[in-house]
Amino acid sequence: MKSQKQIKSVFNNILVTGGCGFIGSNFIRYLLKEENYTGKIINLDKLTYAGNPENLRDIAADFKTRYIFEKADICDAASLEKIFTKHDIDAICHFAAESHVDRSIKEPSNFVQTNIIGTFNLLELAKSRGDKLKIFHHVSTDEVYGSLGEKGLFKETTSYKPNSPYSASKAASDQMARAYFKTFGLPVTISNCSNNYGPYQFPEKLIPLIIINALEGKPLPVYGDGKNVRDWLYVEDHCRAVWQIMNHGRKGQTYNIGGKAEMENIKIVRMICDILDEIKPAKDGKKRRNLITFVADRPGHDRRYAIDFSKINKEIGWSPKESFKSGIKKTIKWYLANTAWVKSIKTGAYNDWIRQQYGES
Ligand code: NAD
Ligand code: DAU
Repeated sequence: MKSQKQIKSVFNNILVTGGCGFIGSNFIRYLLKEENYTGKIINLDKLTYAGNPENLRDIAADFKTRYIFEKADICDAASLEKIFTKHDIDAICHFAAESHVDRSIKEPSNFVQTNIIGTFNLLELAKSRGDKLKIFHHVSTDEVYGSLGEKGLFKETTSYKPNSPYSASKAASDQMARAYFKTFGLPVTISNCSNNYGPYQFPEKLIPLIIINALEGKPLPVYGDGKNVRDWLYVEDHCRAVWQIMNHGRKGQTYNIGGKAEMENIKIVRMICDILDEIKPAKDGKKRRNLITFVADRPGHDRRYAIDFSKINKEIGWSPKESFKSGIKKTIKWYLANTAWVKSIKTGAYNDWIRQQYGES
């Protein structure tokens, strides 16, 4: 494994879209607190059910002049134009998206609007910046490649075969970003990463949903036979990779990012139960594994994802630092320590979704 390159960033005004979401908020915190980024960050977010300003409460207080929030919808080109001009944007990191596969199965139209039309709007405005724009980094997913069998890894050269409305919309946005590089010379880089986990993840996704339900003694829903495999990436490792690509990636290139941590869903759920039993035993003394409930499978459920990250390792020197064992413990401890945040998330939108999906709140 190669070692990572040093960064002396040349960006002054980075537009981060979707910065109030899970990965976007971790990315903003990472840049301002862990890296030597000294410019401004303009966080553009519509604040959908998944966007929560609480995720950045500390950052808004600590970086009053260098962190700026703009509430806007990437589907609204006129608002975007005003923000681009006002802040003299010279770099873009595009996270904003509808991100949950199950929601895309129930209601795909928002996914087409935000993920495809919204990305197109951003690319057009980025193009209008001409030479002032130094980078447009498009954050995408390994789900664009479809599903793997028992063996093999997704490479950057693997052909696209998206299976859900979510992954199809992300695939379309990746292709559009790539086309803007080829046709207009826009300085685009793209990353396709595996499942992230860590602090501030909205509890509709497997890991936070299981942690919170287990703490509350509620059923732990496992789809199908529970043997689907994901390649888990700790969110800070992802943020570091994105920042490296923005600074050192070759324009027009795609980089796969993975956690080197393949795991069956059922093993993760059991692991969470056991860790919680150890550090915060249930009041009734019962083992949390008893809460595991197999439920109907997700339609079109991809069986296995796994990432070959040798390209980013060879070119830039990035590799994941966190093991799944240490990352999941950190994550569980974070949810235990941040009960006020969990409470702030469990609003109407969260309860409505849980009721719709699992028939209880
Ligand atoms: P998230 O759902 O937690 O956050 C999405 C953010 O985008 C929210 O703050 C939301 O308010 C904002 N947003 C949604 N629609 C918008 C619009 N029309 N205009 C402006 N803002 C809007 O998502 P996440 O998990 O943080 O994912 C971020 C990105 O990373 C997405 O592009 C997703 O496809 C990609 N990704 C996520 C994962 C993962 O495991 N979470 C893995 C691979 C790739
Ligand atoms: O691979 C990257 C993708 O990872 C991202 O692009 C998506 O934005 C992100 O949501 C995630 O998609 P998944 O569908 O893999 O994540 P989710 O947490 O929804 O599900 C993980 C696995 O757990 C999947 O096999 C479905 C299963 N699952 C999920 C939920 C919510 C369950 O068994 N029970 C559940 O309640």
